[in-house]
Amino acid sequence: MPKYIKILSKINPYNKTIYVASDKSISIRAVLLASQAIGTSTISNILESEDVLSAIKSIKKLGVECKKIGKKYKIKGYGLNGYNINKNIVINAGNSGTLARLILGLLVKVEKVVKLVGDKSLSKRDFSRITEPLKEFGVNIKSKGNSLPVEILGTKFLTPIDYIETRGSAQCKSAVMLAALNTPGITRIKAYKSRDHTERMFKYLKLPIKIKSTKNLDLIEVTGLEQFKAFNYVIPGDISSSAFFIVLTILSKNSKIRIKNINVNKSRIGIITILKKMNCKIKVENKKIYNGEEVADIIVRSSMNIRGINCPSNLNSASIDEFLVIFLVAAKAKGTSYFKNLGELNKKESPRLDISINMLKKLGIKIERKKNDLKIFGNPKLKIKKNIHVKDYLKDHRVFMMSCIAALSFGGNWKIEDKDSINTSFPSFLKILKKLGAKFN
Ligand code: S3P
Repeated sequence: MPKYIKILSKINPYNKTIYVASDKSISIRAVLLASQAIGTSTISNILESEDVLSAIKSIKKLGVECKKIGKKYKIKGYGLNGYNINKNIVINAGNSGTLARLILGLLVKVEKVVKLVGDKSLSKRDFSRITEPLKEFGVNIKSKGNSLPVEILGTKFLTPIDYIETRGSAQCKSAVMLAALNTPGITRIKAYKSRDHTERMFKYLKLPIKIKSTKNLDLIEVTGLEQFKAFNYVIPGDISSSAFFIVLTILSKNSKIRIKNINVNKSRIGIITILKKMNCKIKVENKKIYNGEEVADIIVRSSMNIRGINCPSNLNSASIDEFLVIFLVAAKAKGTSYFKNLGELNKKESPRLDISINMLKKLGIKIERKKNDLKIFGNPKLKIKKNIHVKDYLKDHRVFMMSCIAALSFGGNWKIEDKDSINTSFPSFLKILKKLGAKFN
């Protein structure tokens, strides 16, 4: 089987209903929290992708039992401080920043050295953003420069901290919340808005958490050492995986799609707000609350009169994983689009800001960049006729999928390397594209 795919034609009009992959952020959080609950938790509709399987392997290494029975995962935890290891161990987080960062928060009380490693992409990413706050709890933690491998040696003598999160990073906020759960006393977090699945799960599990929100900030207090019981949880679909089909439909002619059962928390739907501002035809229907998360269907139609946007940077965190495809919409818009403060995009699985600028330039789109601000000069008549070879992108799953969407929307002869990268977050991506009628080999 070749490791690349070739796409040589645009997709034909379609009108379909689809389900996409389950939410990756929520799947990883459910696995990690179940590993410190007391008793057997049952998690349904879990995302079976490499990142989540790495989370399952990691908790097993920590002595937690995890079995798949039918389609459900049963995870038997022994409570806070219940990890059962009697020697130093190595945990491999693979490609997953979320797993690597959140699990460090759960290891603060483990009195053995746990060495955390990851793949080539994860090993390039910043871990000082996690090791610095965890040190303040009293944990002994070392890293190679600011990166992996990280070695953590937990302690019984933890003290709560006051932490200010300034990046809008849910991973940083969540790692501190999980450390706080294992620490006596009240940890206080002042955080810029970011995805709030950890907060919602704490509330769902009736853990002692207090939240006061202002327009841009959340003030969170977590009281530690409250044991919690095993739970049942059903994971909804992932808006970040939906984003590829949302944008494909917007950019394709005479097409419509309904994407069922997607997490639509305010902290995740930046893409919907942005696309509406760009005059795209997108709606949310059948909203309900499920396990403390907001779940709905997203309905999208082809959009012919896309407008440029002056994107407010307070939407950055709520759409951080979707900018690659939002930029494709800006490329086809009438007028100029402005995006600001996108530095965090270069800290993802690959330097996504640099990669998307190069890609759009290859497609013939005019772009101006000033540090981390971007001006994209849209072209509503955009059509690609040349050969495009996408390679050397650190196997970033979202770059692969964004390239497929660009090829199917704009045309051209595309060869896209490293198709296995989709297994990180969305193993059924190509199957769903086929169902919509996309042709590739
Ligand atoms: C995630 C948070 C975001 C996001 C990542 C998943 C999470 O990262 O990019 O894919 O599950 O908390 P940051 O917290 O670093 O912004």
